[in-house]
Amino acid sequence: MKIITLANQKGGCGKTTTAINMALSLARQKHRVLLLDTDPQRNSFETIKVREYRPIRVVATHKNIYQTLEKFEDRYHYAIIDTPPHNLEVVSTSILCSDMVIVPVQNSPLDIRSTKTTVDLIRKAKELNSLLKGYFLLYRIQPLTLAIKELSDSLKQSYEIEILKSHVSNRAVYQQSLLHGQGIAEYSHSEPAVKEIMSLVDEIKNKLHGEEP
Ligand SMILES: Nc1ncnc2c1ncn2[C@@H]1O[C@H](COP(=O)(O)OP(=O)(O)OP(=O)(O)O)[C@@H](O)[C@H]1O
Ligand SMILES: [Mg+2]
Repeated sequence: MKIITLANQKGGCGKTTTAINMALSLARQKHRVLLLDTDPQRNSFETIKVREYRPIRVVATHKNIYQTLEKFEDRYHYAIIDTPPHNLEVVSTSILCSDMVIVPVQNSPLDIRSTKTTVDLIRKAKELNSLLKGYFLLYRIQPLTLAIKELSDSLKQSYEIEILKSHVSNRAVYQQSLLHGQGIAEYSHSEPAVKEIMSLVDEIKNKLHGEEP
């Protein structure tokens, strides 16, 4: 089981939205997926619970993260961990259990600066697990602007973490689909958003399984 944590101590930066969309997209590709919600607000858990048919398993716990992963290890291909903002202990535990950490960051100086705590956690975790992969995900990008380049340049100046090629744009469909407990691929087949999430999932799979050129 490959374990991917969505982390950023900054609140409201897109962790839950990305975790749910990644989990549901992986499930559409016939992978068995566990979504572990370690946020006491339980946003991921409650979003998926509104569905009658659930293509993924969703578990909420912020106390037994390691034990839960161990319990389900043999049954799932991927575990996606959604983490809370402002909770160092839960986020560090999640990161320490992971193969990969994805840090969604929005294009604002405040967001870039407040990402430092999370970057420091990843750096410390890499001292214990040198195989841990950490990536920024450019998030809520305004389509048809220079935001991708601006944000990439700022992050490269500030931190040493790699940036994923895929990005997620600012689109109302990301909010609307979650109201129905759905990923964007189920909610809307023709959206460019579907392509963004597919690209993200493919890139992550390649990085995890070493299929990159
Ligand atoms: N790509 C997007 N485009 C437009 N709105 C978005 C997008 N992603 C998330 N949102 C909205 O932004 C808000 C915050 O997103 P989300 O809950 O995913 O962030 P979070 O990092 O999990 O927040 P928290 O730190 O509180 O757990 C939500 O209202 C969500 O619907
Ligand atoms: Mg959240």
